Amino acid sequence: MVWIKALAVNALAPNTRQVVKLEERSLLLLNESGTIYAIDNICPHLKLPLKKGKVTPDGSIVCPWHRSEFDLATGNVKTWCPFPPVVGNVLGKISSEKTLGVFPTKVEDEQILVDLSV
Ligand code: FES
Repeated sequence: MVWIKALAVNALAPNTRQVVKLEERSLLLLNESGTIYAIDNICPHLKLPLKKGKVTPDGSIVCPWHRSEFDLATGNVKTWCPFPPVVGNVLGKISSEKTLGVFPTKVEDEQILVDLSV
């Protein structure tokens, strides 16, 4: 594992999020009630930003564009492109189903560290 400093932990209060650039990658850091996630800030459907995606009570993030839903812990697809109705199904076929990039995190010396090597 290769841990890289991403952000001071006190810059990410509970239930907030922040986009950081790490090794040419746009990452979305989320602090969900004390659990810190690092995910690609780019939806794998049409490469649009996930920053404003809604987090569900069961630990998923929903893309604000066509509402694909991804597990925050694994990146697995729960729902692929259901929106808008009917058109979403067509848009979903433009790009085949892909998992979201998720990366391990840990906090050390008041810093959030992310491992991009996975
Ligand atoms: S860009 Fe995210 S679901 Fe289409």
